[in-house]
Amino acid sequence: MNSDNKQITDTVPFDVRKVREDFPILAETVHGKPLVYFDNAATTHKPLQVINRLQHYYLHENSNIHRGVHALSQHATGEYEKSRRTIQKFINASSEKEIIFTRGTTESINLVAQSFGAKFIAQDDEIIISGMEHHSNIVPWQLLCERTGARLKILPFDLNGELQMEELPGLITAKTKLISVVHASNSLGTVNPVEDIIALAHSHGIPVLIDGAQAVQHMPVDVQKLDCDFYVFSGHKLYGPTGIGVLYGKTKYLEAMPPYQGGGDMILSVTFDKTIYNELPYKFEAGTPDIAGGIGLGAAIDYLNTIGMDAIAAYEHQLSDYVIEKFTNIDKVQLIGNAKKRVGSFSFILDGIHPHDIGTILDFDGIAIRTGHHCTQPVMQRFCIPATARLSLGIYNTREEIDFFVQSIHKVFEVFS
Ligand code: ALA
Repeated sequence: MNSDNKQITDTVPFDVRKVREDFPILAETVHGKPLVYFDNAATTHKPLQVINRLQHYYLHENSNIHRGVHALSQHATGEYEKSRRTIQKFINASSEKEIIFTRGTTESINLVAQSFGAKFIAQDDEIIISGMEHHSNIVPWQLLCERTGARLKILPFDLNGELQMEELPGLITAKTKLISVVHASNSLGTVNPVEDIIALAHSHGIPVLIDGAQAVQHMPVDVQKLDCDFYVFSGHKLYGPTGIGVLYGKTKYLEAMPPYQGGGDMILSVTFDKTIYNELPYKFEAGTPDIAGGIGLGAAIDYLNTIGMDAIAAYEHQLSDYVIEKFTNIDKVQLIGNAKKRVGSFSFILDGIHPHDIGTILDFDGIAIRTGHHCTQPVMQRFCIPATARLSLGIYNTREEIDFFVQSIHKVFEVFS
């Protein structure tokens, strides 16, 4: 993690016991053991504040939005739009019109690939991504390249899991139309120097999309400070509901881009001769959206704001240091990815033991981790491994849980000795 967080670590206390009380699922047992949830990069649990907000919506407010003059519809519309403003403030977008609700990070990237792609990408153009992207920041661009005859170029990373930034200037040409990179890697934990990428890209007039799916829940994000052109993330990794996500885009691009899907809500008027599209952000929001999800995401952000993103970053920084210290003391554990600046997602392998076996044995102790390629097969290929086990931290994890995890790892060694 970055050194900026160090100072915060020392000055901002964080009461994890109180936070844990907000997450009823943490009181569950699995195979008779208390649940220890270390699969936060896949999805986070939801605090009561979010669960209650969803229930309140369906009990008292359910109605379609942007459509009715009746009171319930007006109210639901107000709550949904309030949530949009909450998201705007959370990432410091300059206007709520720049916040597009989607189903998640994947849909946000597909939206940009299709819509930005239709307007700005043609045959022989080039798009740069990094070698550590999630499949959702690879495949939409491959589909676009297949459609248009454009070309995908890859910024490589080294065996520490850090981008080889010295290669970037050589990849950029007059044909480069977009750079799309992950802010924090889901499988390596690396926090990428996105500020440097954006500055270099902009010096060539190239827009940049940042995949924030694994960053926005771990650190304060300011899209104006970053000066990124697009920023995307999911609600369910941010302690909010599944099925809801966000595309932030600068107005100048969103205005120029054609709609992504056609249907209700994204139009101002329709005749059989001509359709006039709605203004931002509605131009990109066809059909009845996930209203409860949008409102629930606002509640999740309100919840995180009561703790504070600086405090969350500081606490997770402490926990990450503790994980690294523990891993360093176990001989047969190999961490995949040792980036200097990182979030608390740790891929690891144990000598001669398949990750699925690790995951299964830990599960018997009630410990949830993810095993597999983590939707980053090119990352696995770079390290010449088929899969890893991954421990990923959230705001409710504790040192005691990490100690228990280490004991359970020793059991894995015993089983395979
Ligand atoms: N992309 C999510 C993960 O890393 C699902 O687990």
